[in-house]
Amino acid sequence: MSFPKGFYWGGATAANQLEGGWQEGGKGVSCPDICTGGTATVSKRITPVLEEGTFYPSHDAIDHYHRYKEDIALFAQMGFKMYRFSIAWTRIFPNGDEEQPNEEGLKFYESLIDECLKYGIEPMVTISHYEVPFHLTKKWNGWADRRMIDCYLNFCKAIFTRYKGKVKYWLTFNEINSATTPMGGFLSQGILNEIKTMDFMDQVDNPNNRFQGLHHQFVASALAVKMAHDIDPNYQVGCMQIMATSYALTCNPEDEIVNQQKGHLMNWFCSDVQCRGKYPNYIKRYFKDNNITVHMEPGDDDILAAGPVDFYTCSYYMSNCQTADKFKESGKGNILGGVPNPYLKASDWGWQIDPIGLRYSLNEIWDRYQKPIFVVENGLGAYDKIDEDGKVCDDYRIDYLRSHIQQMHEAVLDGVDLRGYTPWGCIDLVSASTGEMAKRYGFIFVERYDDGTGDFSRRKKESFYWYKKVIETNGEDLD
Ligand code: BG6
Repeated sequence: MSFPKGFYWGGATAANQLEGGWQEGGKGVSCPDICTGGTATVSKRITPVLEEGTFYPSHDAIDHYHRYKEDIALFAQMGFKMYRFSIAWTRIFPNGDEEQPNEEGLKFYESLIDECLKYGIEPMVTISHYEVPFHLTKKWNGWADRRMIDCYLNFCKAIFTRYKGKVKYWLTFNEINSATTPMGGFLSQGILNEIKTMDFMDQVDNPNNRFQGLHHQFVASALAVKMAHDIDPNYQVGCMQIMATSYALTCNPEDEIVNQQKGHLMNWFCSDVQCRGKYPNYIKRYFKDNNITVHMEPGDDDILAAGPVDFYTCSYYMSNCQTADKFKESGKGNILGGVPNPYLKASDWGWQIDPIGLRYSLNEIWDRYQKPIFVVENGLGAYDKIDEDGKVCDDYRIDYLRSHIQQMHEAVLDGVDLRGYTPWGCIDLVSASTGEMAKRYGFIFVERYDDGTGDFSRRKKESFYWYKKVIETNGEDLD
């Protein structure tokens, strides 16, 4: 068993979840910077006015801003071929709407990219990963406003020109389809419909704003693809989706049709627009049934048609079941909704573990788009602990990753054009949904805890050595 030659093994992170240095180098305030920490059971909070004495996890995160060289050296030790990271918009444009970029921010990422290249690690850059500049939330309610497009393109232009010849792979928006759910409104689009202190998981939702925001993001993404190709014909630009594989709970046709409708909305709508360059018909029915009106400017259709992405990427963590039975309880902890699958176990956060679902989905994606695919996030959030002998024995994580890699290999044998795998949080970092450090994904343990203690020191987990061997053998040795 081995993967295609040149397969990109690596890892993935996002700026706001690991960098810290939230006010250094001229950086402005991003939406995550006003979020408190939470836990598996208590939601983190959005506090537009920072509270004195409250802990804000993104402010220092894991201090990667000061330790990126050490971290990239550790990735190189594992043999990474690719490192997926994001550029904090507010390091380049502190408020988001300035005309000229902040040189110190550009320099920081230039140095980070050079550090990757030094080890032969191919960078994959997420342009926008869950961190709209907070100024643009206050000014325009984030992506609900069309003027965001120009600011985003200005950001793209600054980084496309600056990193030409160094970066080849770009992703326009992380998990763009998260905004088909209420949670994505603030997280992905910086939309706050009411400015007051509130639970992250219980925001005032306005679906119209979210779908209008998505339209703006589609237009921005298509224009960014075109801009990237104009600046450097070697640039490859991808979309990035949450792949939330779902199954009908029973073979009752009523369940099947609900599953298809949910799948259309969650898994296919955004990638259909980004890969095919036009809105699918089923979404028009959804808009009509849900009283959603999306305003489109003349010419938007042409922009979408001219800017399909070059490749497809997704995160994959879990699957769920769908049913027409309104009395069935939705899965506890499964933030993507659906009801529990009786055949699957779940993580400590209630995310149902389903490696075969990954093979199934990769086949579906390939059948639909025939574009190269990367799995750019996957992994197990778990409560790790340091043993008395100083080791972190995360065999449960190894089991999780092994079973998913095996199923990716099956997908390759099925004929899927899979190009790379960058598991999430290759170094422990702050959780996006709960804001906690306790939910760890890394191959590298970071001594940072949810009460703000810890000296940020790094320690290799058992999975570090295991993953190194996986990469060395191109996926042949998974033991
Ligand atoms: C994806 C995001 O949703 O999943 C990441 O792109 C996130 O930003 C990851 O961290 C895991 O989710 P969580 O909530 O466990 O951090």
